[in-house]
Amino acid sequence: MTLNLTVNGSRRTSASEPATPLVDILREEFHLTGAKPVCREGFCGACMVLIDGKPTPSCLMPAALAQGCEIRTVEGLGAGNTLNTIQQALEACDAVQCGMCFPGMVVTLTHLLTTAPSATRDDIRAALSGNICRCTGYERIVDAALTALAKK
Ligand code: FES
Ligand code: FES
Repeated sequence: MTLNLTVNGSRRTSASEPATPLVDILREEFHLTGAKPVCREGFCGACMVLIDGKPTPSCLMPAALAQGCEIRTVEGLGAGNTLNTIQQALEACDAVQCGMCFPGMVVTLTHLLTTAPSATRDDIRAALSGNICRCTGYERIVDAALTALAKK
């Protein structure tokens, strides 16, 4: 069976088993290594991608179920080599440490910026409840999100 997937606006095919986790196809076949398979249980958010605009852990998504959906990974959130607003704010606020969690954070916060332009500090913290960072406190990440929101 051929899987037909739409990733970052491009049509892609895969010969993997239908139950293969989407994160594995993105990384191993399409070489989109932003999404990270860390817990593989839906807890950490490191594998987060947008599925039809909604942040979704790609470790829990059988690839077959993603057919017909618009999949957007962190690689597809900027415009070419230009970082998007939240990526620029995270860099400016010096929020990144090891970076393992950040692709997922960027996916979640990009969604927040587009859906909740009046989000408060508490709203941002709630939105990030499914994204675990083992390096930092979350203060600079939340500061970056508020900075990005202020620019909208
Ligand atoms: S690897 Fe998917 S949520 Fe942790
Ligand atoms: S910056 Fe290292 S896990 Fe978040």
